[in-house]
Amino acid sequence: MRVLFIGDIVGRPGQDYVREVLPGLLRARRIDLVIANGENATNGRGINRLACEALYDAGVEIITLGNHTWDQKDTPALLEEDLRIVRPANFPEGTPGRGHTVCRVAGRPFLVINLMGRTFLSQLDCPFREVDRILGEHPDIRHILVDMHAETTSEKLAMGWHLDGRVSAVVGTHTHVPTSDERVLPNGTAYITDVGMVGPRNGILGMDRHRVIRKMRTQMPVKFEVASGARQFCAVEIELDDETGRATGIERIFLCETGE
Ligand code: FE2
Repeated sequence: MRVLFIGDIVGRPGQDYVREVLPGLLRARRIDLVIANGENATNGRGINRLACEALYDAGVEIITLGNHTWDQKDTPALLEEDLRIVRPANFPEGTPGRGHTVCRVAGRPFLVINLMGRTFLSQLDCPFREVDRILGEHPDIRHILVDMHAETTSEKLAMGWHLDGRVSAVVGTHTHVPTSDERVLPNGTAYITDVGMVGPRNGILGMDRHRVIRKMRTQMPVKFEVASGARQFCAVEIELDDETGRATGIERIFLCETGE
């Protein structure tokens, strides 16, 4: 079984690039499931219904989120009614939506879990305890991917090792910068600290660099906007054993346009 996980999709440029490159990748790599982090899909902040539909049309099947979950006003309702989109599971009890979802891939149940780290981010519930709880609820599912949306490398590595042998893959998101540490851990869990992003590559994390620099230099409020120009596409392909759910490989995919 082959799963494609696409890193944080930023704004319209990110959505458009996914639509342009995904059909070719799916054909060439015989992918069975496409999961994407969509928490920056609407103008770099959160995701609305329109952006969700655009990603589904492009071939994305499950969408994960992160710290920008609540930045668009229609997201709470969307999360309540659409089982294909998940927000971090360790948000406080009573939060709209769900932190995990089960879909079917090649006739088998596939569990997708979204978590958020706490270092330099909101002080949510403990992601380690929360993932243990969810896994305890689904003892029979063997094919499991965890999107660990977090700022720090150490928190993501800790989650990878915590879950080694218990899930098929732990992929990091949020920093928008791909890391080159993809590997299968000793007990069969595919791991990468950060998948990277899909969006304008000459901005700063996908946002217009001039505005970001102005804010940093002046410390004045500056409204950020999604950058334009050349784009990049970051994803990982994870290969899983059909029977056991153990990862047998993880490969980084990086595509980009040149020029400004
Ligand atoms: Fe984020």
